[in-house]
Amino acid sequence: MAGALPTRPDACGIDFGTSNSTAGCGSDSEPGRAVLLNLEDGKPTIPSVVFFHAEDRHISYGRAALADYLAGDEGRLMRSLKSLLGTSLIDEQTEVAGQALPFRALLAQFIGELKRRAEHAAGREFTRAVLGRPVFFVDGDAAADRQAENTLAEIARAVGLKEIAFQYEPIAAAFAYEAQVTREELVLVVDIGGGTSDFALVRLAPEGVRKADRREDILASGGVHIGGTDFDKYLSLGSVMPLLGLGSQLKNGLQMPSAQYFNLATWHTINFAYTKQAWSQISELYREAQEKEKLARLQKLVAERAGHWLAMQVEEAKIALSGTPQTELNLGRIDPGEVLVLHRADFDAAIGELTDTVARAVTGLLRDAGVLPAQVDTVFFTGGSSSVPLLRERVAALLPQARRAEGDLFGSIGSGLAIDALRKFG
Ligand SMILES: Nc1ncnc2c1ncn2[C@@H]1O[C@H](COP(=O)(O)OP(=O)(O)OP(=O)(O)O)[C@@H](O)[C@H]1O
Ligand SMILES: [Mg+2]
Repeated sequence: MAGALPTRPDACGIDFGTSNSTAGCGSDSEPGRAVLLNLEDGKPTIPSVVFFHAEDRHISYGRAALADYLAGDEGRLMRSLKSLLGTSLIDEQTEVAGQALPFRALLAQFIGELKRRAEHAAGREFTRAVLGRPVFFVDGDAAADRQAENTLAEIARAVGLKEIAFQYEPIAAAFAYEAQVTREELVLVVDIGGGTSDFALVRLAPEGVRKADRREDILASGGVHIGGTDFDKYLSLGSVMPLLGLGSQLKNGLQMPSAQYFNLATWHTINFAYTKQAWSQISELYREAQEKEKLARLQKLVAERAGHWLAMQVEEAKIALSGTPQTELNLGRIDPGEVLVLHRADFDAAIGELTDTVARAVTGLLRDAGVLPAQVDTVFFTGGSSSVPLLRERVAALLPQARRAEGDLFGSIGSGLAIDALRKFG
Protein backbone atom coordinates (compact mmCIF):
# COMPACT_ATOMS: atom_id res chain seq x y z
CA MET A 1 0.00 0.00 0.00
CA ALA A 2 1.44 3.40 -0.98
CA GLY A 3 2.49 5.50 2.00
CA ALA A 4 1.83 2.57 4.31
CA LEU A 5 2.53 2.95 7.97
CA PRO A 6 5.60 1.08 9.22
CA THR A 7 4.90 -2.14 11.08
CA ARG A 8 6.08 -2.40 14.66
CA PRO A 9 6.32 -6.05 15.47
CA ASP A 10 5.61 -5.73 19.18
CA ALA A 11 2.24 -3.97 18.97
CA CYS A 12 -1.20 -5.52 18.68
CA GLY A 13 -4.86 -4.66 19.02
CA ILE A 14 -6.97 -6.57 21.52
CA ASP A 15 -10.76 -6.68 21.48
CA PHE A 16 -11.73 -8.20 24.80
CA GLY A 17 -15.45 -8.68 24.23
CA THR A 18 -18.27 -9.64 26.56
CA SER A 19 -19.04 -12.70 24.43
CA ASN A 20 -16.12 -13.05 21.99
CA SER A 21 -12.57 -11.74 21.79
CA THR A 22 -10.17 -11.13 18.92
CA ALA A 23 -6.62 -9.84 18.48
CA GLY A 24 -4.82 -8.45 15.46
CA CYS A 25 -1.52 -6.95 14.40
CA GLY A 26 0.38 -5.68 11.39
CA SER A 27 0.72 -8.13 8.53
CA ASP A 28 4.20 -9.55 7.93
CA SER A 29 3.66 -9.94 4.21
CA GLU A 30 1.91 -6.62 3.54
CA PRO A 31 3.44 -3.90 5.71
CA GLY A 32 0.89 -1.38 6.90
CA ARG A 33 -2.03 -3.79 6.67
CA ALA A 34 -3.66 -5.32 9.72
CA VAL A 35 -4.60 -8.98 10.12
CA LEU A 36 -6.56 -10.87 12.73
CA LEU A 37 -4.73 -13.68 14.50
CA ASN A 38 -6.13 -17.17 14.87
CA LEU A 39 -6.92 -17.69 18.53
CA GLU A 40 -8.71 -21.06 18.63
CA ASP A 41 -9.06 -23.93 16.15
CA GLY A 42 -7.84 -21.76 13.29
CA LYS A 43 -10.52 -19.16 13.98
CA PRO A 44 -9.90 -15.48 14.74
CA THR A 45 -12.52 -15.36 17.51
CA ILE A 46 -12.43 -17.01 20.90
CA PRO A 47 -15.49 -16.99 23.13
CA SER A 48 -14.69 -15.03 26.33
CA VAL A 49 -15.19 -18.09 28.51
CA VAL A 50 -13.12 -19.79 31.21
CA PHE A 51 -13.74 -23.23 32.72
CA PHE A 52 -11.99 -24.27 35.92
CA HIS A 53 -11.79 -28.04 36.20
CA ALA A 54 -12.49 -29.19 39.74
CA GLU A 55 -10.52 -32.43 39.57
CA ASP A 56 -7.10 -31.50 38.28
CA ARG A 57 -7.52 -27.70 38.51
CA HIS A 58 -6.58 -27.13 34.91
CA ILE A 59 -8.24 -24.28 33.05
CA SER A 60 -9.75 -24.39 29.59
CA TYR A 61 -10.75 -21.42 27.49
CA GLY A 62 -13.11 -20.49 24.70
CA ARG A 63 -14.94 -23.15 22.72
CA ALA A 64 -13.02 -25.85 24.59
CA ALA A 65 -14.29 -24.45 27.90
CA LEU A 66 -17.88 -24.55 26.67
CA ALA A 67 -17.41 -28.10 25.38
CA ASP A 68 -15.91 -29.30 28.69
CA TYR A 69 -18.80 -27.82 30.65
CA LEU A 70 -21.41 -29.29 28.30
CA ALA A 71 -19.69 -32.68 28.44
CA GLY A 72 -20.44 -32.65 32.17
CA ASP A 73 -16.91 -32.13 33.51
CA GLU A 74 -16.91 -31.08 37.17
CA GLY A 75 -15.93 -27.48 37.56
CA ARG A 76 -16.95 -23.89 37.23
CA LEU A 77 -17.79 -22.03 34.02
CA MET A 78 -17.40 -18.27 33.77
CA ARG A 79 -18.81 -16.21 30.92
CA SER A 80 -19.46 -12.54 30.32
CA LEU A 81 -16.36 -11.61 32.35
CA LYS A 82 -16.24 -8.12 30.89
CA SER A 83 -19.61 -7.37 32.50
CA LEU A 84 -17.78 -7.37 35.86
CA LEU A 85 -15.81 -4.25 34.88
CA GLY A 86 -17.48 -1.16 36.28
CA THR A 87 -19.44 -3.11 38.92
CA SER A 88 -18.57 -3.56 42.59
CA LEU A 89 -18.24 -7.30 41.92
CA ILE A 90 -14.82 -6.72 40.36
CA ASP A 91 -13.38 -6.27 43.87
CA GLU A 92 -15.01 -9.48 45.09
CA GLN A 93 -14.09 -13.08 44.61
CA THR A 94 -15.71 -16.35 43.68
CA GLU A 95 -15.07 -19.83 44.95
CA VAL A 96 -13.40 -22.23 42.58
CA ALA A 97 -12.64 -25.79 43.71
CA GLY A 98 -12.89 -24.71 47.36
CA GLN A 99 -10.52 -21.78 46.89
CA ALA A 100 -11.23 -18.09 46.68
CA LEU A 101 -10.49 -16.59 43.27
CA PRO A 102 -10.64 -12.79 42.94
CA PHE A 103 -12.61 -11.74 39.87
CA ARG A 104 -9.67 -9.54 38.84
CA ALA A 105 -7.46 -12.64 38.74
CA LEU A 106 -10.10 -14.37 36.63
CA LEU A 107 -10.03 -11.57 34.07
CA ALA A 108 -6.24 -11.65 34.09
CA GLN A 109 -6.32 -15.40 33.40
CA PHE A 110 -8.42 -14.86 30.31
CA ILE A 111 -6.66 -11.77 28.98
CA GLY A 112 -3.26 -13.39 29.62
CA GLU A 113 -4.37 -16.41 27.62
CA LEU A 114 -5.62 -14.13 24.84
CA LYS A 115 -2.19 -12.48 24.68
CA ARG A 116 -0.35 -15.83 24.72
CA ARG A 117 -2.48 -17.18 21.89
CA ALA A 118 -2.08 -14.00 19.85
CA GLU A 119 1.70 -14.19 20.32
CA HIS A 120 1.74 -17.85 19.38
CA ALA A 121 -0.21 -17.13 16.18
CA ALA A 122 1.93 -14.11 15.28
CA GLY A 123 5.20 -15.78 16.20
CA ARG A 124 6.36 -12.83 18.27
CA GLU A 125 5.90 -11.24 21.65
CA PHE A 126 3.59 -8.28 22.13
CA THR A 127 4.54 -5.63 24.66
CA ARG A 128 2.30 -2.82 23.44
CA ALA A 129 -1.37 -2.90 22.68
CA VAL A 130 -4.37 -0.84 21.81
CA LEU A 131 -7.23 -2.20 23.88
CA GLY A 132 -10.80 -1.69 22.81
CA ARG A 133 -13.27 -0.30 25.28
CA PRO A 134 -16.98 0.51 25.08
CA VAL A 135 -17.73 4.23 24.97
CA PHE A 136 -19.25 3.76 28.42
CA PHE A 137 -18.38 0.82 30.64
CA VAL A 138 -20.96 2.29 33.00
CA ASP A 139 -23.88 4.50 31.98
CA GLY A 140 -23.99 7.92 33.62
CA ASP A 141 -21.18 7.47 36.16
CA ALA A 142 -17.89 8.92 34.95
CA ALA A 143 -15.93 7.89 38.07
CA ALA A 144 -17.02 4.24 37.85
CA ASP A 145 -16.28 4.32 34.13
CA ARG A 146 -12.73 5.57 34.74
CA GLN A 147 -12.32 2.92 37.40
CA ALA A 148 -13.34 0.21 34.92
CA GLU A 149 -10.75 1.43 32.40
CA ASN A 150 -8.10 1.60 35.11
CA THR A 151 -8.86 -1.95 36.15
CA LEU A 152 -8.54 -3.17 32.57
CA ALA A 153 -5.25 -1.26 32.23
CA GLU A 154 -3.89 -2.82 35.45
CA ILE A 155 -4.82 -6.26 34.21
CA ALA A 156 -3.19 -5.61 30.84
CA ARG A 157 0.03 -4.54 32.58
CA ALA A 158 -0.13 -7.54 34.89
CA VAL A 159 -0.12 -9.87 31.88
CA GLY A 160 2.97 -8.20 30.43
CA LEU A 161 1.80 -5.35 28.23
CA LYS A 162 4.17 -2.51 29.00
CA GLU A 163 2.57 0.20 26.92
CA ILE A 164 -1.15 0.41 26.36
CA ALA A 165 -3.63 2.75 24.77
CA PHE A 166 -7.41 2.58 24.68
CA GLN A 167 -9.67 3.10 21.73
CA TYR A 168 -13.46 3.23 21.62
CA GLU A 169 -14.71 0.04 20.01
CA PRO A 170 -17.01 1.75 17.44
CA ILE A 171 -14.15 3.99 16.31
CA ALA A 172 -11.99 0.91 15.81
CA ALA A 173 -14.83 -0.55 13.74
CA ALA A 174 -14.85 2.63 11.66
CA PHE A 175 -11.14 2.21 10.91
CA ALA A 176 -11.81 -1.34 9.73
CA TYR A 177 -14.66 -0.18 7.49
CA GLU A 178 -12.51 2.65 6.13
CA ALA A 179 -10.31 0.08 4.36
CA GLN A 180 -13.21 -0.45 1.93
CA VAL A 181 -14.50 3.10 1.34
CA THR A 182 -13.93 4.56 -2.08
CA ARG A 183 -14.94 8.19 -1.41
CA GLU A 184 -15.45 10.45 1.58
CA GLU A 185 -18.44 9.33 3.65
CA LEU A 186 -20.08 10.44 6.87
CA VAL A 187 -20.65 7.13 8.63
CA LEU A 188 -22.64 6.18 11.69
CA VAL A 189 -21.07 3.07 13.19
CA VAL A 190 -23.51 0.93 15.16
CA ASP A 191 -21.73 -1.81 17.12
CA ILE A 192 -24.14 -3.95 19.08
CA GLY A 193 -22.24 -6.63 20.94
CA GLY A 194 -22.86 -8.90 23.89
CA GLY A 195 -22.63 -6.26 26.61
CA THR A 196 -22.97 -2.83 25.06
CA SER A 197 -24.30 -0.86 22.11
CA ASP A 198 -21.72 1.65 20.91
CA PHE A 199 -21.94 4.33 18.27
CA ALA A 200 -19.59 6.67 16.47
CA LEU A 201 -20.18 9.33 13.88
CA VAL A 202 -17.05 9.46 11.78
CA ARG A 203 -15.86 11.03 8.55
CA LEU A 204 -14.07 8.36 6.56
CA ALA A 205 -12.09 8.54 3.35
CA PRO A 206 -9.77 6.30 1.33
CA GLU A 207 -6.74 8.32 2.44
CA GLY A 208 -7.82 8.28 6.11
CA VAL A 209 -5.65 5.33 7.01
CA ARG A 210 -2.56 7.43 6.38
CA LYS A 211 -3.62 10.22 8.72
CA ALA A 212 -1.84 10.10 12.06
CA ASP A 213 -4.40 12.20 13.93
CA ARG A 214 -8.09 11.40 13.42
CA ARG A 215 -9.57 13.68 16.03
CA GLU A 216 -11.14 16.07 13.55
CA ASP A 217 -12.82 13.17 11.73
CA ILE A 218 -14.58 11.88 14.84
CA LEU A 219 -17.72 13.94 15.22
CA ALA A 220 -19.29 12.07 18.11
CA SER A 221 -19.33 8.80 20.03
CA GLY A 222 -21.78 7.34 22.48
CA GLY A 223 -23.31 4.19 23.80
CA VAL A 224 -25.57 2.41 26.23
CA HIS A 225 -25.06 -0.62 28.40
CA ILE A 226 -27.39 -2.83 26.40
CA GLY A 227 -26.28 -5.85 24.39
CA GLY A 228 -27.01 -9.44 23.49
CA THR A 229 -26.55 -10.71 27.04
CA ASP A 230 -29.42 -8.42 28.05
CA PHE A 231 -31.54 -9.82 25.24
CA ASP A 232 -30.81 -13.32 26.55
CA LYS A 233 -31.78 -12.20 30.04
CA TYR A 234 -35.06 -10.58 29.01
CA LEU A 235 -36.02 -13.52 26.80
CA SER A 236 -35.24 -15.88 29.65
CA LEU A 237 -37.19 -13.87 32.23
CA GLY A 238 -40.10 -13.34 29.84
CA SER A 239 -40.48 -16.81 28.37
CA VAL A 240 -38.37 -19.44 30.13
CA MET A 241 -38.10 -18.66 33.85
CA PRO A 242 -41.91 -18.62 34.23
CA LEU A 243 -41.76 -22.37 33.45
CA LEU A 244 -39.44 -22.70 36.46
CA GLY A 245 -41.77 -20.76 38.74
CA LEU A 246 -41.04 -17.08 38.15
CA GLY A 247 -44.28 -15.13 38.58
CA SER A 248 -46.09 -18.08 40.21
CA GLN A 249 -47.52 -18.02 43.72
CA LEU A 250 -46.70 -19.45 47.09
CA LYS A 251 -49.38 -21.29 49.10
CA ASN A 252 -49.88 -18.14 51.19
CA GLY A 253 -50.83 -16.24 48.04
CA LEU A 254 -47.60 -14.22 47.89
CA GLN A 255 -45.58 -13.90 44.73
CA MET A 256 -42.59 -16.20 44.25
CA PRO A 257 -39.36 -14.34 45.21
CA SER A 258 -37.43 -13.62 42.02
CA ALA A 259 -33.76 -13.28 43.08
CA GLN A 260 -32.57 -16.71 41.93
CA TYR A 261 -34.38 -16.34 38.60
CA PHE A 262 -32.54 -13.08 37.99
CA ASN A 263 -29.23 -14.71 38.95
CA LEU A 264 -29.86 -17.56 36.52
CA ALA A 265 -30.99 -15.31 33.67
CA THR A 266 -27.88 -13.10 33.90
CA TRP A 267 -24.73 -14.64 32.43
CA HIS A 268 -22.25 -13.28 34.95
CA THR A 269 -24.32 -14.15 38.03
CA ILE A 270 -25.40 -17.71 37.19
CA ASN A 271 -22.93 -19.20 39.69
CA PHE A 272 -24.56 -17.17 42.49
CA ALA A 273 -27.51 -19.58 42.29
CA TYR A 274 -25.21 -22.44 43.29
CA THR A 275 -24.42 -21.32 46.84
CA LYS A 276 -25.62 -23.31 49.87
CA GLN A 277 -27.77 -20.35 50.86
CA ALA A 278 -29.45 -20.23 47.45
CA TRP A 279 -30.08 -23.98 47.62
CA SER A 280 -31.81 -23.78 50.99
CA GLN A 281 -33.93 -20.88 49.75
CA ILE A 282 -34.98 -22.86 46.66
CA SER A 283 -35.82 -25.92 48.83
CA GLU A 284 -37.96 -23.73 51.06
CA LEU A 285 -39.73 -22.25 48.04
CA TYR A 286 -40.38 -25.75 46.70
CA ARG A 287 -42.14 -26.64 49.97
CA GLU A 288 -44.22 -23.46 49.84
CA ALA A 289 -44.98 -23.40 46.09
CA GLN A 290 -48.47 -23.82 44.68
CA GLU A 291 -47.07 -25.25 41.43
CA LYS A 292 -44.43 -27.69 42.64
CA GLU A 293 -43.66 -29.04 39.16
CA LYS A 294 -42.21 -25.64 38.20
CA LEU A 295 -40.00 -25.45 41.29
CA ALA A 296 -38.90 -29.03 40.65
CA ARG A 297 -37.43 -27.81 37.34
CA LEU A 298 -35.62 -25.02 39.16
CA GLN A 299 -34.24 -27.50 41.71
CA LYS A 300 -33.05 -29.83 38.99
CA LEU A 301 -31.39 -26.98 37.09
CA VAL A 302 -29.46 -25.85 40.16
CA ALA A 303 -28.67 -29.37 41.41
CA GLU A 304 -27.16 -30.19 38.00
CA ARG A 305 -25.32 -26.88 37.76
CA ALA A 306 -27.10 -26.51 34.43
CA GLY A 307 -27.65 -22.75 34.60
CA HIS A 308 -25.19 -22.04 31.80
CA TRP A 309 -26.69 -24.85 29.76
CA LEU A 310 -30.11 -23.20 29.99
CA ALA A 311 -28.67 -19.75 29.21
CA MET A 312 -27.00 -21.27 26.13
CA GLN A 313 -30.34 -22.77 25.04
CA VAL A 314 -31.91 -19.33 25.38
CA GLU A 315 -29.07 -17.67 23.45
CA GLU A 316 -29.31 -20.26 20.68
CA ALA A 317 -33.06 -19.73 20.44
CA LYS A 318 -32.52 -15.96 20.28
CA ILE A 319 -30.00 -16.35 17.46
CA ALA A 320 -32.35 -18.71 15.61
CA LEU A 321 -35.13 -16.11 15.89
CA SER A 322 -33.02 -13.66 13.88
CA GLY A 323 -33.53 -15.93 10.88
CA THR A 324 -36.88 -17.60 11.49
CA PRO A 325 -40.20 -16.53 13.04
CA GLN A 326 -40.39 -19.55 15.36
CA THR A 327 -38.02 -21.92 17.10
CA GLU A 328 -37.98 -24.62 19.77
CA LEU A 329 -36.13 -24.58 23.07
CA ASN A 330 -35.52 -28.05 24.46
CA LEU A 331 -35.91 -28.21 28.24
CA GLY A 332 -35.33 -31.99 28.33
CA ARG A 333 -32.44 -31.77 30.74
CA ILE A 334 -34.63 -30.39 33.52
CA ASP A 335 -37.95 -31.91 32.46
CA PRO A 336 -37.77 -34.88 30.05
CA GLY A 337 -39.78 -34.32 26.89
CA GLU A 338 -40.53 -30.66 27.64
CA VAL A 339 -40.11 -28.36 24.63
CA LEU A 340 -40.89 -24.66 24.60
CA VAL A 341 -41.94 -23.06 21.32
CA LEU A 342 -40.70 -19.50 21.02
CA HIS A 343 -41.90 -16.93 18.50
CA ARG A 344 -40.09 -13.90 17.13
CA ALA A 345 -42.99 -11.84 18.50
CA ASP A 346 -42.23 -13.09 22.06
CA PHE A 347 -38.63 -12.04 21.64
CA ASP A 348 -39.52 -8.67 20.11
CA ALA A 349 -41.88 -8.01 23.02
CA ALA A 350 -39.20 -8.99 25.54
CA ILE A 351 -36.63 -6.56 24.10
CA GLY A 352 -39.00 -3.75 23.09
CA GLU A 353 -37.90 -1.32 25.80
CA LEU A 354 -34.23 -2.11 25.34
CA THR A 355 -34.58 -1.39 21.63
CA ASP A 356 -36.31 1.92 22.39
CA THR A 357 -33.39 2.89 24.61
CA VAL A 358 -30.83 2.06 21.91
CA ALA A 359 -32.83 4.05 19.33
CA ARG A 360 -33.07 7.05 21.69
CA ALA A 361 -29.31 6.94 22.21
CA VAL A 362 -28.71 7.08 18.44
CA THR A 363 -31.14 9.98 18.04
CA GLY A 364 -29.47 11.82 20.93
CA LEU A 365 -26.03 11.28 19.46
CA LEU A 366 -27.02 12.83 16.12
CA ARG A 367 -28.81 15.70 17.83
CA ASP A 368 -25.86 16.49 20.11
CA ALA A 369 -23.50 16.39 17.13
CA GLY A 370 -25.79 18.79 15.23
CA VAL A 371 -26.05 16.32 12.35
CA LEU A 372 -29.32 15.71 10.53
CA PRO A 373 -30.17 12.10 9.67
CA ALA A 374 -30.15 13.03 5.98
CA GLN A 375 -26.51 14.10 6.23
CA VAL A 376 -25.35 10.60 7.19
CA ASP A 377 -24.23 8.70 4.09
CA THR A 378 -23.84 5.24 5.57
CA VAL A 379 -24.87 3.30 8.63
CA PHE A 380 -22.32 0.60 9.30
CA PHE A 381 -23.52 -2.31 11.42
CA THR A 382 -21.20 -4.56 13.36
CA GLY A 383 -21.31 -6.75 16.49
CA GLY A 384 -23.23 -10.01 16.76
CA SER A 385 -26.40 -8.42 18.11
CA SER A 386 -26.73 -6.10 15.12
CA SER A 387 -28.28 -9.18 13.49
CA VAL A 388 -31.39 -8.83 15.68
CA PRO A 389 -33.99 -7.80 13.06
CA LEU A 390 -36.07 -5.53 15.31
CA LEU A 391 -33.01 -3.61 16.43
CA ARG A 392 -31.45 -3.28 13.00
CA GLU A 393 -34.69 -2.09 11.42
CA ARG A 394 -35.35 0.31 14.27
CA VAL A 395 -31.93 1.94 14.00
CA ALA A 396 -31.90 1.92 10.18
CA ALA A 397 -35.34 3.61 10.18
CA LEU A 398 -33.82 6.59 11.98
CA LEU A 399 -31.63 7.18 8.92
CA PRO A 400 -33.91 6.25 6.01
CA GLN A 401 -31.67 7.83 3.37
CA ALA A 402 -28.43 6.26 4.58
CA ARG A 403 -26.88 3.32 2.79
CA ARG A 404 -26.63 0.24 5.00
CA ALA A 405 -23.29 -1.51 5.22
CA GLU A 406 -22.10 -4.41 7.26
CA GLY A 407 -18.62 -5.64 8.09
CA ASP A 408 -17.30 -8.77 9.70
CA LEU A 409 -19.74 -8.74 12.62
CA PHE A 410 -17.26 -10.40 14.98
CA GLY A 411 -13.95 -9.17 13.58
CA SER A 412 -14.20 -5.52 12.62
CA ILE A 413 -13.37 -4.16 16.10
CA GLY A 414 -10.24 -6.33 16.39
CA SER A 415 -9.11 -5.39 12.86
CA GLY A 416 -9.65 -1.71 13.59
CA LEU A 417 -7.73 -1.94 16.86
CA ALA A 418 -4.84 -3.54 14.99
CA ILE A 419 -4.91 -0.66 12.46
CA ASP A 420 -4.90 1.76 15.39
CA ALA A 421 -1.98 -0.09 16.99
CA LEU A 422 -0.01 0.41 13.77
CA ARG A 423 -0.91 4.09 13.83
CA LYS A 424 -0.20 4.67 17.53
CA PHE A 425 2.86 2.51 18.01
CA GLY A 426 4.22 2.54 14.48
N1 LIG B 1 -27.48 -14.06 14.42
C1 LIG B 1 -27.57 -13.47 15.61
N2 LIG B 1 -28.74 -12.89 16.01
C2 LIG B 1 -28.83 -12.28 17.21
N3 LIG B 1 -27.83 -12.20 18.09
C3 LIG B 1 -26.65 -12.76 17.74
C4 LIG B 1 -26.46 -13.41 16.50
N4 LIG B 1 -25.18 -13.89 16.45
C5 LIG B 1 -24.61 -13.54 17.62
N5 LIG B 1 -25.50 -12.86 18.40
C6 LIG B 1 -25.24 -12.29 19.73
O1 LIG B 1 -24.20 -11.36 19.62
C7 LIG B 1 -23.53 -11.24 20.86
C8 LIG B 1 -22.04 -11.34 20.65
O2 LIG B 1 -21.64 -10.35 19.76
P1 LIG B 1 -20.14 -9.81 19.75
O3 LIG B 1 -19.21 -10.95 19.65
O4 LIG B 1 -20.09 -8.74 18.75
O5 LIG B 1 -20.08 -9.20 21.24
P2 LIG B 1 -18.80 -8.79 22.07
O6 LIG B 1 -17.88 -8.03 21.20
O7 LIG B 1 -18.25 -9.96 22.75
O8 LIG B 1 -19.46 -7.83 23.18
P3 LIG B 1 -19.17 -6.31 23.57
O9 LIG B 1 -18.58 -5.64 22.40
O10 LIG B 1 -20.51 -5.74 23.94
O11 LIG B 1 -18.25 -6.40 24.73
C9 LIG B 1 -24.04 -12.37 21.74
O12 LIG B 1 -24.97 -11.85 22.67
C10 LIG B 1 -24.71 -13.30 20.74
O13 LIG B 1 -25.77 -14.03 21.31
MG1 LIG C 1 -17.62 -6.08 20.71
